[in-house]
Order: sequence, then structure tokens, then C-alpha cells
Amino acid sequence: MTEVSRRGFLRAAAAAAALGHHAARAADPPKSSGGRPSGPTVIASANGLPATAKAAELIAQGVAPVDAVVAGVAIVEADPTDHSVGLGGLPNERGVVELDASVMDGPTHNSGAVAGLQRIRHPAQVALRVLRRTDHAILVGAGALEFARAHGFEEENLLTDEARRIWLKWKESHSDRDDWIPPVDAPDAGAVRRDSGSVLHTYGTINCDALDARGNLGGVTSTSGLSYKLPGRVGDSPIIGAGLYVDNEVGAAGSTGRGEAVIKNCASFATVEQMRAGKSPTDACLAALGRIVAHVKDARLRRADGRPNFDVKMYALAKDGRFGAASIWSGARFAVYSNGHNRLEDAGYLFDRPEDMKG
Ligand code: GLY
Repeated sequence: MTEVSRRGFLRAAAAAAALGHHAARAADPPKSSGGRPSGPTVIASANGLPATAKAAELIAQGVAPVDAVVAGVAIVEADPTDHSVGLGGLPNERGVVELDASVMDGPTHNSGAVAGLQRIRHPAQVALRVLRRTDHAILVGAGALEFARAHGFEEENLLTDEARRIWLKWKESHSDRDDWIPPVDAPDAGAVRRDSGSVLHTYGTINCDALDARGNLGGVTSTSGLSYKLPGRVGDSPIIGAGLYVDNEVGAAGSTGRGEAVIKNCASFATVEQMRAGKSPTDACLAALGRIVAHVKDARLRRADGRPNFDVKMYALAKDGRFGAASIWSGARFAVYSNGHNRLEDAGYLFDRPEDMKG
């Protein structure tokens, strides 16, 4: 980073940190006599409003946070209109849907994950079985599918007609050096946006983290991953420390956005460690994002002004019930259930989103 852009970055980070402090103060929940919120607190990425509501309902009934968040994201995994997760997720470059997911349980510090899982609508549920019914942390590809079959998960074609048409439009129009020709009246593939250089793709995902009144935490991240990825590509979502991390003494964190950047910066682990060091959840997210930005060295991943040409969003929930989220670029929201209310809140951010990154 040049000195000029470094100063700009520090100014933006300071401004964003101020925003984050505001968000964290507004988020302070009513406390029980033990100093923790008296009811469930659940956060998620913006597509997770149904998940936060469901998880909170289950936690209030006594369900453990890790089970509750998996049940919550199941609603989104089953939604064919969400092209970032489960059924209807956008496929790899060959048109095959490959799902990644991880879960982490605060009280036991156990985790489970699956990567490159095909034909199973609820990868987070399979990840929870990996946690509970194996001595392993991650199962991938054919082995993950065999494990899911052994546990009776139903197999199905996850590529909906809409997702197939979005993929086909990409396939027919992403190169003029092949023999695929798009129809002149091809419908606009609304789920596809430009957020990384000249490549058209999406990184949508759901992360959901929960805290119960006893101070126990659980988290889940589930995704169809980068659209049109190379077959076998694994993102951050199933990597503990990258797309999800829970420490029952400190808090939980998760991510959505460009998984490669999250993996290379252990961003969820870094966010939890920033909370351990005393930062508010929003400031912890901003610090992890600042580190991601500082490590973007490849010219192909930088805009002309030196800033990243991609986005990452971090979500954080502290053991005392404070919560927050932040993104590299402005405009992000996140889902929150606290104090009996389920809603979307604005996330903190590092930089104002420029016009050419909107839409
Ligand atoms: N964060 C989702 C992915 O990159 O796969």
C-alpha cells in the first residue's frame, strides 16, 4: 500500500471504527444478574433473518446454540430463491452444485465440516453429524456424500431451473474464445454481479452465531461457495478459523464474501482474538478486515486506487451479548435477534462503496 493510500486507509478505518463503536453501544442488550443477556442473542448475514428468528425460538425452548443455528440456516438452505446456499445455489463451472459448511460448538470446542458436498440440501446438518458422530473435523467430496448417505440424508438434484439458467448465461457469455453463443434475448441473471475484477461471480453464504442465557455459544456457516468455481474449489466456510470460529470463553465469528481472502487471513479466528484482546465485536470485525486489505498484494485483486476489488463481511458475537458486523465496502446489513426483536442492522465498514461497485 502506498503512503497516500495507507493514510487514506487509516482515516477510513478510524471513521469506520467510530461507526462500529456506535453500533456496539446500540447493541448492548439487557443483562441478567450474571451479566449476560437474559434471553437468546443470534446474529447472521443479511439473508439470515429467518435463521435468527428460528434459532432464537429454539434456544428459548432449551435447544443448544449449535443445534439451533443449524436448524435456523436449514430454512435458508431449503430456499430455492437464495442462490448462495443449499437448494438453488449457483453451481461450479460445469453446472454442478458443490456445497461447503461448518459448525462449531462452544461448550465442547468441537467442530465439524463438509466441503464439496453434492446432492444434499442441508450441508450444515451433515457437518453437525461430522461433529457428533465422527472423530474427524472435515469430510470432503465423495467421502462426505457417502457419510451423508450412511446417515440417511436424502439425495436430490440441487440445481434449480433458475440457477441453471443463470449459470448457462454465464457459460455462454463469459468468453468470446469458445463456441458457446448466448441467445440475443437472454434474461438478465439478476443474481450475478461484478465484484472482482473482470470476472462475473458471487460469493454469497450464510453465517449464523448464537448465544444462550447460560453464556454458551454456537455457530454455523453454509454456502454453495463461489459461483462458477473450478470443480473441487473449497472456500472459507468449511475451514475452522476462516469462515467460522467459536471460543466459548470469548465469542463467535463468521464470514461471507471472498473466501480466498478470508482463508489467507484466518479472519474468523482473528476476529475472536481481537475480541479477546478487548475490542468490541464491530471493531474486532474491522480489525480483521483491515488485515485482509493490508495483505492484498496482487494487482488483479486491486482497484486503480489500490483498494480491494472484492468484498468480505465479518460477523461477531461476544460472550457478554454484544454483537456487530463489518464489511470492507459500505452498504452491508446483518440480521440480529436480541431483546425479543428480529431485524436487520447496518454493518460497519472500511470504505465507502464507489459507484462502479454498486448493483
Ligand atoms: N465465502 C464463501 C466462499 O468464498 O466460498
